Amino acid sequence: MEKKRIIAVVGATGAQGSGLCRAILNDRDGGYGVRALTRNTESAKAKELAKMGAEVVRADVDDVESLKNAFQGAYGAFCVTFFWDHFSPEKEVAEAKNMAVAAKHAGIGHVIWSTLEDTRNWIPLSDNRMPTLSGKYKVPHFDGKGEANRAFSELGLPRTFLLTSYYWENLIYFGMGPKKAADGKLYITMPMGDKKLPGIASGDIGKCAYAIFRNGREFIGKIVGIAGDHLTGYQMAAALTKALGKEVLYNDVFPDSYRALGFPGAEDLGNMFQFKHDFEDYFCGVRSLDFSRSINPSMHTFESWLAENKDRIPLEEDVRLVSGE
Ligand SMILES: NC(=O)c1ccc[n+]([C@@H]2O[C@H](COP(=O)([O-])OP(=O)(O)OC[C@H]3O[C@@H](n4cnc5c(N)ncnc54)[C@H](OP(=O)(O)O)[C@@H]3O)[C@@H](O)[C@H]2O)c1
Repeated sequence: MEKKRIIAVVGATGAQGSGLCRAILNDRDGGYGVRALTRNTESAKAKELAKMGAEVVRADVDDVESLKNAFQGAYGAFCVTFFWDHFSPEKEVAEAKNMAVAAKHAGIGHVIWSTLEDTRNWIPLSDNRMPTLSGKYKVPHFDGKGEANRAFSELGLPRTFLLTSYYWENLIYFGMGPKKAADGKLYITMPMGDKKLPGIASGDIGKCAYAIFRNGREFIGKIVGIAGDHLTGYQMAAALTKALGKEVLYNDVFPDSYRALGFPGAEDLGNMFQFKHDFEDYFCGVRSLDFSRSINPSMHTFESWLAENKDRIPLEEDVRLVSGE
């Protein structure tokens, strides 16, 4: 029997990594196997992956030696960091460096780094259209990842930089679902004007990553952007209205109003939406829908994602929101 090519998956119990593990494990004859990295091999999610056929190993992205061990003998490595666990771009850069060093040490044949744009290449810190955050970032959870690309390039690794998109699961888990405002109506709130937001079902990221590993020759050395739909806030609200059977309106606020909402990360996300708004052509252009579907034909649209997930979207009250701002 031919030996399987092992893909070491960082964040295997999370949104991006678990999608990749499932894509590989569901393709039994594909010639690839999964090594799932987790900090806790005894968790329910880790045990589920083991039951599905993954090799589950302990590793922590803050511990380079654990990564070296976990990457040893693997063909591929899927690398991702976890900004919202700590809100530190510096930590993301250090963790990416750990993964790059471990990949080099293990002689990995193909690394996929799940990254985002360093927005400072579009909006220098001197550009006052949006505030500079923590003294040296415009969009901290983007900029650290984009800066960390260098860690992989400098070591000459065979790598693909994967530019992901806004997860529609943010409507379920990230407080971005429709909220009932003081006027009793349901609103989704984003400072996007009439510009399009590339979105994706987070599980599709892993399916795309698997396609990229399988076609390494084509994708090594490339930057690859993916999305399932490009939709305006109005289009997202209309799709939600149809799926939920309740009217949902789009609350198009100014970026300053969004940044002032006061929840942790509001300024970062306000700047993020403004970046996507101001650079819509680039941002959508690099995340081509045709290309994304060509590597993952089962890619969800927002409509098909809603058909599967509408009942999981919490409809909360938030009277802070002022419509039409
Ligand atoms: N939300 C969005 O719209 C969006 C869009 C694009 C990109 N992103 C980016 O996606 C990244 C997060 O990826 P995700 O959504 O797949 O994560 P996730 O679902 O939050 O899962 C993270 C998993 O990683 C593991 N983990 C956390 N800290 C770790 C550490 N120190 N060492 C090793 N493993 C660790 C955890 O597993 P164990 O507990 O089993 O170790 C956890 O299950 C963020 O950086 C975010 O900026 C988000």
